[in-house]
Amino acid sequence: MNAIAVPQHPPTRLDELKQWVEDVARLTRPDAIHWCDGSDAENAALIANMQADGTLIKLNEKTHPDSWLHRSHPDDVARVEHLTFVCTRHADDAGPNNHWMAPDEGHAQMDALFDGCMRGRTMYVIPYCMGPIDSPLSRCGVEITDSPYVVANMRIMTRMGAAALARIEREGLAGGAFVKGLHSIGELDPNRRFIMHFPEELTIKSYGSGYGGNALLGKKCHALRIASYQARSEGWLAEHMLILGVENPQGETHYIAAAFPSACGKTNLAMLIPPEGYRRDGWKVTTIGDDICWMRPGADGRLYAINPEAGFFGVAPGTSSKSNPNALATIQNNTIFTNVGLTADGQPWWEGLDGGVPAYDWRGHEYDSSAPASSRGPAAHPNARFTVSAKQCPSYSPMAEHPQGVPISAIVFGGRRASLVPLVFEARDWTHGVLVGAAMGSETTAAATGAVGVMRRDPMAMKPFCGYNFADYFAHWLSFGDVAGLPKIFHVNWFRKGDDGKFLWPGFGDNLRVIEWMIARVKGDAGAQDTPIGALPHAHDLNLDGVDLGDEARAKLFGFDEAGWREEFAGIGEFLDEYGPRMPAALKAEQARILAELGG
Ligand code: GTP
Ligand code: MN
Ligand code: MN
Repeated sequence: MNAIAVPQHPPTRLDELKQWVEDVARLTRPDAIHWCDGSDAENAALIANMQADGTLIKLNEKTHPDSWLHRSHPDDVARVEHLTFVCTRHADDAGPNNHWMAPDEGHAQMDALFDGCMRGRTMYVIPYCMGPIDSPLSRCGVEITDSPYVVANMRIMTRMGAAALARIEREGLAGGAFVKGLHSIGELDPNRRFIMHFPEELTIKSYGSGYGGNALLGKKCHALRIASYQARSEGWLAEHMLILGVENPQGETHYIAAAFPSACGKTNLAMLIPPEGYRRDGWKVTTIGDDICWMRPGADGRLYAINPEAGFFGVAPGTSSKSNPNALATIQNNTIFTNVGLTADGQPWWEGLDGGVPAYDWRGHEYDSSAPASSRGPAAHPNARFTVSAKQCPSYSPMAEHPQGVPISAIVFGGRRASLVPLVFEARDWTHGVLVGAAMGSETTAAATGAVGVMRRDPMAMKPFCGYNFADYFAHWLSFGDVAGLPKIFHVNWFRKGDDGKFLWPGFGDNLRVIEWMIARVKGDAGAQDTPIGALPHAHDLNLDGVDLGDEARAKLFGFDEAGWREEFAGIGEFLDEYGPRMPAALKAEQARILAELGG
């Protein structure tokens, strides 16, 4: 054992944690071990070190106080789904939706990478809590990392430090478990990069990437992949969903959870600003979460949801005073920007931002805005992100800190679909709603490595994040079906395009018009036409005052294309069949019922 690496008195009374930290130190050989307490002083020291070694660049203190730019390795800018594994004893438990490796092999491969990898570095031990510290719905973990950038981001994204450690110790001494996440940036070599999950051991090992989704292990790795597995055995749901509160002029608040694939508008919808007329009438939208939602049935049968995160890791490009003024207000100070461009006076810059001229691109190269657009590429990476505390968001709801969570009135699924899929429809019951979620398709975006704009099935926006076999996951969803008080399920598509290739729906703030219709449906007082795919509003069922929609837009946003849907449902049937006999019969029966109604 390396005597320098392991302090004589690790600051925990939990033997399991002490032992694990020792084992990791013995394997990775750090020069020092730092147990994070989450204090301001600790953060300031880490930031100062990172500024000194160039990991962080100080932004203009006048315009962006306490804010920083981080430039990642240019090959390390997004999640890497092809290098992400779920390691269960039986391959079938991971399912065709995941890359699988046997746990022994996974550990061996990762431990070989971790062997001695922290030499010359400090190893940070980060106790964190996903969800309010005092919530029974919250779950804890500890991430070990050699990246101070990860520590600074985890401090924003989770409840990190002394309070989390106290909860972990309390639960651990009572026989409870915490998630163990081991991370090293390694050499940032894409050929030596893997993100592996061992759900049966509540363990994560991530090597070779510093990017948020790969390295902030509390987020996608824990709060979705491991938590979805945990949730199944414990009777709850861990979902890739935003949560927002909508208060109507009568003062009633409804909470809505919505699953859209990465870069399809969750952060935007979560921070929606009502259109002018709605504001005048007294509508208010508040933000609970923008990416992840944990839900559990309450005693009254309703689903109660918490946002397990404490911050936003949002897409910067496209964020403007028009598209998302709340996000823009949130990131005026105390923010870490990753892979954005930089102006000559040290302000962050990205495509779509109102004003400013980039002098440097996200790689730090000088940027010539006057060069032809085709030759210069974007100044910010398309998946550039901001990390910021949710508390800085003007629309952040105090209910986000409520230990019991918020009751969900409606669940919304949606994706990017240029054709076929109308603006909104409502599932006829829970089973149909689960099929609507399971059948979700979306065109790919820059949030993951790979081609952009290709339609793929992304059930419940969980394709990259479900920690077990989708067939079992759908069965778990179906198992909630007997509970009275469950939310209604809807599907939306903000991305329908016209023949000219332009979006037909104005989107953003105007999406509240669609939400108003959903809430009215929940209360039973809004019209719709019944079709085989669900209840579709007529244009006149929505408040479209002040929205200018042409004939093509009305026809496509509110229309039902039977032949197109017949083809779609045949494709959905093929998708379900990929899972063989493990796919719940109830879901296949639902698909067959609708296909028959469509004349297929
Ligand atoms: P992750 O954080 O990666 O999970 O993604 P997200 O779902 O939070 O994505 P985000 O809100 O950052 O989506 C950003 C993209 O969606 C940008 O290109 C926005 O312009 C676009 N977008 C968001 N809302 C709308 C909308 O209502 N209409 C249209 N047309 N585009 C939208
Ligand atoms: Mn996401
Ligand atoms: Mn987001």
